[in-house]
Amino acid sequence: MKQKLIVGNWKMNGSLAANAALLQALKQGLPAGGKAGVAVAAPAVYLAQLQVELSGSSIGIGAQDVSQHEQGAFTGEVSAAMLKEFGVRYALVGHSERRQYHGETDAVVAAKAQAALAKGVTPIVCVGETLQEREAGQTEAVVKRQLAAVIHQVGPCVSELVVAYEPVWAIGTGKTATPEQAQAVHAVLRAQLAAATEHAGRVPLLYGGSMNAANAAQLLAQNDIDGGLVGGASLKAADFLTIVAAAQ
Ligand code: 13P
Repeated sequence: MKQKLIVGNWKMNGSLAANAALLQALKQGLPAGGKAGVAVAAPAVYLAQLQVELSGSSIGIGAQDVSQHEQGAFTGEVSAAMLKEFGVRYALVGHSERRQYHGETDAVVAAKAQAALAKGVTPIVCVGETLQEREAGQTEAVVKRQLAAVIHQVGPCVSELVVAYEPVWAIGTGKTATPEQAQAVHAVLRAQLAAATEHAGRVPLLYGGSMNAANAAQLLAQNDIDGGLVGGASLKAADFLTIVAAAQ
């Protein structure tokens, strides 16, 4: 079986004390020699803490966003080179909360993916439809449009991406896509990647949206679901570890 990848997205949660406790529990609870890749994406201010706490551990460090710019007068932004200095391996780009609340367009998301790749940070490109778009039968068109912008921008580097399908209606709602619904969209994304690279099979396609300890195994058993991007359940060590165990 292909190696799975489980990424926790802490979103805007945590504190120095809470992070230390959570990371300690994860380090202790991860199976020695476990096959699944594991990473956590923390708020930028905590990346230095993760670099220290996770040194020598197999848990990768993720950022939740990255600037499309290299440096300069962009107040509040964090560049890919800065992330790299803190040992960051992954950066989420185009999370639906960034698209929705921070006006990120497909073009901005593509530029962010490119900026991350240029510094050796792997972008986790998030795509997904709203409930309204799903009900209007636009799911496929929406995710393909979102991914196409990134594929077009990064050219031959497409095989270095991680892609996460996160239906907006399933995020934080407790309404998970069924394994069949998720697999159907993942198959569309895989085909789109295959048209762009002969290495589409090695691009991890993660599912996100109310993935939890109870539903992870069934989702991860689908052909084109290579892992998970976990929000709420990643804040509870026991739940996150159960999801990781389901990915072994
Ligand atoms: P939940 O797992 O809380 O639904 O969040 C999913 C998500 O947005 C991960 O990026």
